[in-house]
Amino acid sequence: MRQAKDGNLLQDAYEAGALCSITVNLNGVSRSGACEPRELLSDFIRHELGATGTHVGCEHGVCGACTVHVDGVASRSCLMLAVQADGRRIDTVEGLSVGNTLSDLQVAFQRHHALQCGFCTAGILMSCADYLQRVANPSEEQVREMLSGHICRCTGYTPIVKAVLEVAARRRNNENAMEVSHA
Ligand code: FES
Ligand code: FES
Repeated sequence: MRQAKDGNLLQDAYEAGALCSITVNLNGVSRSGACEPRELLSDFIRHELGATGTHVGCEHGVCGACTVHVDGVASRSCLMLAVQADGRRIDTVEGLSVGNTLSDLQVAFQRHHALQCGFCTAGILMSCADYLQRVANPSEEQVREMLSGHICRCTGYTPIVKAVLEVAARRRNNENAMEVSHA
């Protein structure tokens, strides 16, 4: 088994069946596993690490179902090779909750019925989580634009938009309340 170096493919590692050993920080825990040089990060996460919350739909960057965070940034795990993730932090939907306690975003999805079959939901949650860290006060139009990177065949998107806007508003209110209490 070969050692991946800084996520770069070894030139001669294309031979059929060659395996690389990589280590990622998955949701705060160091995890190592073997992968072929051509293996997608989405498949590595699901099949080698067993984190099956990340779903795979189109496998060519269109549907958004496979979205995870790579070093804190929402990324399509079907557009990245597993070896490129060596040494990096990967956050998946399993890391959004703390034990049995859902995140505020997940609770809002539940409250607004922002999921039905749930196939798209892990990816959408990961995109929304990243987005809300960067944009504190988004408009409905901006949320819809962010969601345009995802395909959901069930919800019609409106409940998802409502959930995201509600979380943004609640977080702003909480921050304002903390500022007042520290004043
Ligand atoms: S499975 Fe990755 S974008 Fe569709
Ligand atoms: S909830 Fe079914 S595809 Fe989105």
